[in-house]
Amino acid sequence: MCGITGYVGHRNAVPLLLAGLEKLEYRGYDSSGIGIVASANAKIEISKAPGKIKALKDLLALSPLSPSTLGISHSRWATHGAPSKANAHPHFDCTQKILVVHNGIIENYEELKDRLMQKGHKFLSQTDTEVVAHLIEEHYQGDFLAAVQKALKELKGSFALGILCRDDPDTLIAARLGSPLIIGVGKNENFIASDVPAILDQTKKVIYLKDGEVAVLKSDSVAVYNLASKKVSVKVDTVKFSVESVQKQGFAHFMLKEMHEQPDVIAQILKARVCGDQVVLDGLGLSDAQLKKFNRIFIVACGTAYHAGLLGKYLMEKFAHVPVGVEAASEFRYREQLVDKKTLIIAISQSGETADTLAAVKECRAKGAKIIAICNVVGSSLTRESDGVLYTHAGPEIGVASTKAYTAQLTMLYLLALKLGNVHAVLSKAEQRFLIGELRKIPEHFREILKSKSLIAKIAKPYAHFGCFLFLGRNINYPSALEGALKLKEISYIPAEGYAAGEMKHGPIALIDEYRGVVCIAPQSDIYEKMISNMQEIRARKGKIIAIATAGDEGIKNHSTDVIYIPKTHELLTPLLAALPLQLLAYSVAVHLGCDVDQPRNLAKSVTVE
Ligand code: F6R
Repeated sequence: MCGITGYVGHRNAVPLLLAGLEKLEYRGYDSSGIGIVASANAKIEISKAPGKIKALKDLLALSPLSPSTLGISHSRWATHGAPSKANAHPHFDCTQKILVVHNGIIENYEELKDRLMQKGHKFLSQTDTEVVAHLIEEHYQGDFLAAVQKALKELKGSFALGILCRDDPDTLIAARLGSPLIIGVGKNENFIASDVPAILDQTKKVIYLKDGEVAVLKSDSVAVYNLASKKVSVKVDTVKFSVESVQKQGFAHFMLKEMHEQPDVIAQILKARVCGDQVVLDGLGLSDAQLKKFNRIFIVACGTAYHAGLLGKYLMEKFAHVPVGVEAASEFRYREQLVDKKTLIIAISQSGETADTLAAVKECRAKGAKIIAICNVVGSSLTRESDGVLYTHAGPEIGVASTKAYTAQLTMLYLLALKLGNVHAVLSKAEQRFLIGELRKIPEHFREILKSKSLIAKIAKPYAHFGCFLFLGRNINYPSALEGALKLKEISYIPAEGYAAGEMKHGPIALIDEYRGVVCIAPQSDIYEKMISNMQEIRARKGKIIAIATAGDEGIKNHSTDVIYIPKTHELLTPLLAALPLQLLAYSVAVHLGCDVDQPRNLAKSVTVE
């Protein structure tokens, strides 16, 4: 999704703004632009280019902007209008006095545009954003902040905005409603950005702007106002993660680095959340007695987080005997949600900014349900909408394809399910103790699997040119199959489908021939034999099988073309271990094909619009 950076201070703004944009590249974008107020004459200058940020840098090298200590920049992920120079941000008003960058969607832009055009405003782009600049112009009578506040009252939809005005060459205005925006507080300089990595090497002091707030930044001050234009007090937080955590640190890709971080992330969660044999979920915001009263749970999430949620259902129903529905937030938000105050909603999101997940949570909250968020990003919108938050603290995830955030979500779901099992007195102490013991071994198992990364790359190579893949799993590993297929398709662009193996005969088996790759997740389990039968059916039709199997299972070689082994663990924990070879397999195929692993085409890291 779009990325915003802004600067007001004492240094030349252009290099800082460009560096910030580069740190936001992971969000996904198709054009970029920059605008500054020139220090010499207070004139606004802009430069925009379709394509990668390098194209903007090349343009700036040919025609540099004037020195300036105030500016805004933007990377655009097209929603309204094609990725082109004209549609790239920033956007001007008619007088070229007001300059705007925007992330989000102005839902009533057509109505506003018609009205403004009737008043004589001339539009140069197809974007929804441009109306914001013209609307501010319409309200402007010499008071920049007042004009912005009046304009914001007319906007419907979601926005994070960075705004400049030629008449106020020392002021940067920022506003947010439903799209992320933070303020970085420096020494005689201040920043705005869509996400912390953009400013991390400049300052670790941040203000998480809340919905409906407008901030006025000068080099030596930040003032924040609410929707009613009243000044509000602000909290300056210190970001915990390091500059190195948002760098590749010698890895070829962020995705590879993040896969390698998983043993430590999981170990960290277990260290913080397990004390002896007890699961400690500080931040849950609900007592055991309250937890026991819920007669129904819904897990809402999108994409990979939704797949984590599916596993959560298996675990919670098994450990606690509570019915759990897992819902794709984009569907759930528009359905009749049968929730009330006896319903617990568990919202899972890496970014905490996914528009559909947020909307679903708001709907359920309005009906009296309690909300627990499992989230990675501290202070994100979801965490503010929730009664309790279980932070995964996996550190910044820069690769668009989620890896460490997923296994961190799974780990947290195991712990939450154990807690619920305890509260509902379904799980015995001995079972809990045993599972916790097995969970503690998972980081070491991950390190073991990482040792076979070259072998997995070798196995992957001949499959890279297959036209389509099927991922099959059963029971608790059905979500693993869905996630494996998603990982492969999103970074290699090979069509891949995840299926419950038992459903194969009801349709997908028609796909099988010698040109299809089938990944079968077949660890030792109660339903192992069933999986083997499915594999035989695939082999009989000449399908090529990569099996994910338990170390020591020599027999599986008779039923598959290739085998990737995972260490032996409790059957219920196999989805955690299966996740890593599936990630490595997708990664290796994408690398063989020369794909842009960290920034796959058309994708955005955090989906802040519907
Ligand atoms: C896939 C992926 C996405 C996200 C989805 C939800 O690798 O990362 O499917 O899982 O967009 O994002 P969050 O977790 O930020 O709500």
